[in-house]
Amino acid sequence: MELELLRQNFESAGQGHVFKYFNELDEAEKNTFLKQLEQIDLREIDELKATLLKGNSKIALDFSKLEPAPFKPLPQNRALDEEWRKAKEVGEEAIRAGRLAAFVVAGGQGTRLGFNAPKGLYKITPVMNKSLFNVFAEKILSASRKYGVRIPWLIMTSHINDAATRAYFEENSFFGLNRDNVIFFTQGLMPAVDSEGKFILEDKGKIVMTPDGHGGCLRAMCRSGAIAELDRRGIDCISYFQVDNPLVDIIDPYFLGFHILGKSEMSSKMIPKAYPSEKVGHFCVLDGKYCVVEYSDLPKEYQEMRNADGSLKFVAGSVAIHILDTAFVSKLGGGSSTMKLPFHRADKKIPYLDSDGKLVKPEKPNGVKFEMFVFDALPMAKSPVIIEGARADEFSPVKNAEGLDSPQTCKKHQKAQFARWLKAAGENIEVDSDGVPSINVEVSPLFASNVSDFVERWKALNTKPKISDGLYIA
Ligand code: UD1
Repeated sequence: MELELLRQNFESAGQGHVFKYFNELDEAEKNTFLKQLEQIDLREIDELKATLLKGNSKIALDFSKLEPAPFKPLPQNRALDEEWRKAKEVGEEAIRAGRLAAFVVAGGQGTRLGFNAPKGLYKITPVMNKSLFNVFAEKILSASRKYGVRIPWLIMTSHINDAATRAYFEENSFFGLNRDNVIFFTQGLMPAVDSEGKFILEDKGKIVMTPDGHGGCLRAMCRSGAIAELDRRGIDCISYFQVDNPLVDIIDPYFLGFHILGKSEMSSKMIPKAYPSEKVGHFCVLDGKYCVVEYSDLPKEYQEMRNADGSLKFVAGSVAIHILDTAFVSKLGGGSSTMKLPFHRADKKIPYLDSDGKLVKPEKPNGVKFEMFVFDALPMAKSPVIIEGARADEFSPVKNAEGLDSPQTCKKHQKAQFARWLKAAGENIEVDSDGVPSINVEVSPLFASNVSDFVERWKALNTKPKISDGLYIA
């Protein structure tokens, strides 16, 4: 676009100040800056100024109309339940037919964990110290061997961690995966604004842009060509998960089966909240549509509300595990439909250039960044299905450096799971009252990713390893 036209557009949008230092830039800097400006959708920012910047930053919901979302409860034994058994059969058939891809959103910065690298590189297993990415890779590889099919893995990064993430996979030879089946793409960026809605300069030729949230994956999958690639490979279902949960059952035939049988465009897994104020989203129904209400948006009285029998009313916690239809992603992320994800605002401390052109690091939030959340697609999905998952087997996220949802709790949960598997195979292993063994033990996903596969493979071993501290079963 011509410089003058671009300048005019920015001026009429009240953003002319971004050209303040333009004449001080050299030719190369000018070009880079103009490229950045060209990518900004000024109309979208105007809308956000009108909606999210004015008035209350909290979502206006009529909580009195909020009801808990229904879900398929987990039976005592999935293998013996007719409905779940049928779902598994359908799911396995679809996996074998190559209809499923895995997808991790890994564009976040992991600030809370205090880890100065892409979060997927964080070492998390109890014996071998494997990274989160390594665990996911082995789970996908193991499922792909089990079902005799290629399972592509999409990885969404952000401009901040893309190069480091790709380099890590190269250095580790893609953890045994075929590199053609690992598809990286980068999420989009949104300009951050000050309280007046003005773009913030971080340099004389650069405005502050931040990742557009995990919901940005819908646009990014379309824009990057990832969806087109899945279409080419005959894949119509995507197993979505977050980078922080090494327990995730990525290739879950039960979940996929329920999704297919329900003719759902987007399905989700719920896990009953561990305690009323657990920091998870809540699956709800509002005006007849399923939705997720984040813990930070749901008033405490609703988080703690009880049914007549004493059970929690809003019990269904979102563990950010979904199955998405590729056609649904194309509809929402492709730009051809009026349906699109809303933005949320997050108030942040954003370094900026002062009137003398010097960089200032603010002490308190001075700006706003805009993010989309993938779960906001749920109200737009046809026939959404929610099924219950088992916390001990599927969910132990690493969010904080210490305390709840930390590496310590996650390692404990992994060890407890491996101990349960050994017990199910008839072995004796001493555990404490939380089921955590006193010894360090780890099972590679390449050996088994669930209890039934573990028992089968363990029993088939001619010489079994001794169950002692540091045991690694691979
Ligand atoms: C999230 C969910 C919450 C859910 C919980 C389960 C939100 C707002 N909340 O909380 O409903 O109960 O997980 O553990 O999502 N990411 C990107 N790009 C971004 C931002 C994030 O790819 O721009 C990725 C992160 O890498 C991570 C995931 O999204 O894999 C979650 O992000 P995070 O900000 O850690 O969400 P939580 O607040 O922990």
